[in-house]
Amino acid sequence: MTVEAPAASGVARLPLRLTLNGQLVEIEIATNELLLDVVRDRLALTGTKRSCDVQVCGACTMLLDGRPVSSCCTLALEADGRAIETIEGMAGPDGLHPIQQAFIDNVAVQCGFCTPGFVLTTKALLADNPRPMRAEIEHALTGNLCRCTGYWNILSAVEDAAGRMAEDDGEGRGARDDG
Ligand code: FES
Ligand code: FES
Repeated sequence: MTVEAPAASGVARLPLRLTLNGQLVEIEIATNELLLDVVRDRLALTGTKRSCDVQVCGACTMLLDGRPVSSCCTLALEADGRAIETIEGMAGPDGLHPIQQAFIDNVAVQCGFCTPGFVLTTKALLADNPRPMRAEIEHALTGNLCRCTGYWNILSAVEDAAGRMAEDDGEGRGARDDG
């Protein structure tokens, strides 16, 4: 990464190269630009939300190399050479991702402001732990706040999504349901 001399603003700029939802993106950024601002304001992907701005609510969650990060508190330059996934990358050519569909079917969405963050955190959880226990789901979602749903439907949606994805993988209902 080559950092250019500070511009008139006094802030250095540099070229950023990352994979965003599977597409290679190259853009010049200021060294102090936040990942959330670059993705929302400059790349026009506004599905990721800003709420608390201090890494508390999880509304701004993106996946950085598959791990959830608070993009409101992550410098864009940290994404150089890495892969970012936002809610816009979840659905495929055949429709919504099973996690998205499970959130809808379990009425785990009300205003929807928190939902992109919950969906992406759930994706990371299920990648690591395809059939989590309820307590493991609660732990994984501690960094995501919802002011509408009361959480119960969200927890049910994550369990439902895990079951759907296991079926899609040809595993049927997991052993935990059997035992
Ligand atoms: S807006 Fe980033 S954690 Fe709340
Ligand atoms: S659905 Fe409104 S904040 Fe979660």
